[in-house]
Amino acid sequence: MNVESKPIHWQRLIRDDEVHGSLYTDEAIFREELEKIWYRTWVYVGHESEIPKPNDYILKTIGLEEVIMVRDRNGQVNLLHNRCPHRGNRVCVSNHGNARSFTCAYHGWNFSNNGELKGYPYPSGFVEDKRGELGLGRVARMRSYQGFVFGSLAATGPTLEEHLGSARETIDDLVRNSPEGEVELTAGFLQHKVRSNWKFLVENETDGYHPQVVHASIFEVARSGIGDLYHENSTAVGRYFGNGHSEIDLRPEFRAIGKPMRWFGTDESRVPEYTAAMKAAYGDEKAREIMIDGVRHAMIFPNLFIAEIQLFVLQPLSVDETVQHVTALQFKGAPDLNKRMRNQTMGSVGPAGFLLADDAEMYERTQRGVGLRNPEWLYLGRGRHREQVGEDGVITGNVTDDTASRGMWQHYKSLMEAA
Ligand code: FES
Ligand SMILES: [Fe+2]
Repeated sequence: MNVESKPIHWQRLIRDDEVHGSLYTDEAIFREELEKIWYRTWVYVGHESEIPKPNDYILKTIGLEEVIMVRDRNGQVNLLHNRCPHRGNRVCVSNHGNARSFTCAYHGWNFSNNGELKGYPYPSGFVEDKRGELGLGRVARMRSYQGFVFGSLAATGPTLEEHLGSARETIDDLVRNSPEGEVELTAGFLQHKVRSNWKFLVENETDGYHPQVVHASIFEVARSGIGDLYHENSTAVGRYFGNGHSEIDLRPEFRAIGKPMRWFGTDESRVPEYTAAMKAAYGDEKAREIMIDGVRHAMIFPNLFIAEIQLFVLQPLSVDETVQHVTALQFKGAPDLNKRMRNQTMGSVGPAGFLLADDAEMYERTQRGVGLRNPEWLYLGRGRHREQVGEDGVITGNVTDDTASRGMWQHYKSLMEAA
């Protein structure tokens, strides 16, 4: 691997308030990121609600690795590498479906949906029975948290709970917006491919400095008050949780207003069934509190973005290409809210939506710009002087500051410096 022939000195590329432009453009760095981030740490794969019934499966990725997320006949979720142990063919070629077994199209080996080799044509050609010996590869570690399935290709390392750390509460808060405490990702995914390094997307998801500039037109057209929250005088904050995770916390603004569903740009009268179901589930006071706070705006490093009404999954393709998979959040037991979630998602990040198109244009221009030679560094120092470090190590800054990016880069450095 290139890395061994030419070691990369990460401390020379990542300073406290600056990062070197080559971090977004160097192919060798991208390959090393695959090994040390994407194939070592916990990566979000998919949600259990995407495979609700026994034998349901869906193709997903971890870095560049294609995996089959499949629920076996016993209801257990498995993450299997989509590679035949015979001559390496892709075993599953449909993006999703329901199957008790997978048959490789090349020589017909057949695998149960927990990965075991069940049979193959003309067994007399093998001196020993290969069943039990050869099967589909399993992702080394798999863990589901609130239905969110994460995988790690490394057999050892921090647990998922340790990896999520304080960011875990963003997922807990997300699911309690359902009267039944469950998210269902059933609306289908849109895919947006951008010619940009994946880290620009990670950083942008909790960059509260750009919305007033980049998204000025959609805020104006939609007459949304959300844009005003991304202001230096806003009480919203940016927060770095550690382990690369961050959020923009708009709750201080919503709490000051104190009106349920304001986070969604509406009020209770527009979602009467949802309101009734929430009150029945949590009681009036707690339901009101949840419906004022709404869904968080959090980036779970390296690839899961909870974005109030949507969920994004980042998939790197190469050093300068990334796919964003986006779906509308759907809450179990909330049909009227879910319909609005889908409509708002189409309006903001659908094929004709402004919001993601604005960001995508910035990603691609930045990627082209950062490929130029001078100046070599990107500046990340905004707001360092006013950030606060809590007892739990969580760092809080102004909503428009670079708190999240700075934290992400220090975590990145620690991962990349590891042997
Ligand atoms: S490559 Fe799969 S059966 Fe031969
Ligand atoms: Fe944006």
